[in-house]
Amino acid sequence: MSKAFGSRYSIENSEEAKEYFEFVKDLLDSDVVNEMKNFRHHYSTTCYQHCINVSYYNYLVCRKLGLNSRSAARAGLLHDLFLYDWRDREKKKGEMPHGMTHPKVALNNAKQHFEIGKREEDMIVKHMWPLTLKFPKYAESYVIVCIDKYTAMLEIGSYLGQKMKEKAKAMRTKQH
Ligand SMILES: [Fe+2]
Ligand SMILES: [Fe+2]
Repeated sequence: MSKAFGSRYSIENSEEAKEYFEFVKDLLDSDVVNEMKNFRHHYSTTCYQHCINVSYYNYLVCRKLGLNSRSAARAGLLHDLFLYDWRDREKKKGEMPHGMTHPKVALNNAKQHFEIGKREEDMIVKHMWPLTLKFPKYAESYVIVCIDKYTAMLEIGSYLGQKMKEKAKAMRTKQH
């Protein structure tokens, strides 16, 4: 994570990183959070990696804005704890789209394993807003709405960039 998205900066020893890990270490140690490593989310990014990306950026932004950065870190890590391959779900007929249903599934899973406060609950269940129609209640929920989309874009962009590099390399090899 320290080198997420090709960052030149190491964050391991920063004050923020230390505080961040204090906030989420019980979640990172849990089997249920680690189970997310088994599910692919955006192209080559797993649900686990995506949730860590969202969690850390969410934490940093909320900290900067003077909001509840502990809730930001914890809700970020749990926001996509739906524990299935959404591609399989999308193929099933008659089901509501994954984008609308998974926040509730993630919240239920999170509540089964951890203490979830009202603010964290709102952040998890509304992170897909405006797809999930009810307006977010807290400033932190609006932050996660933006960070989740921004992070997904970076993950997709990073995958496509890699693919383009591979394609260009293959074409160059062919020409020689
Ligand atoms: Fe999500
Ligand atoms: Fe997400």
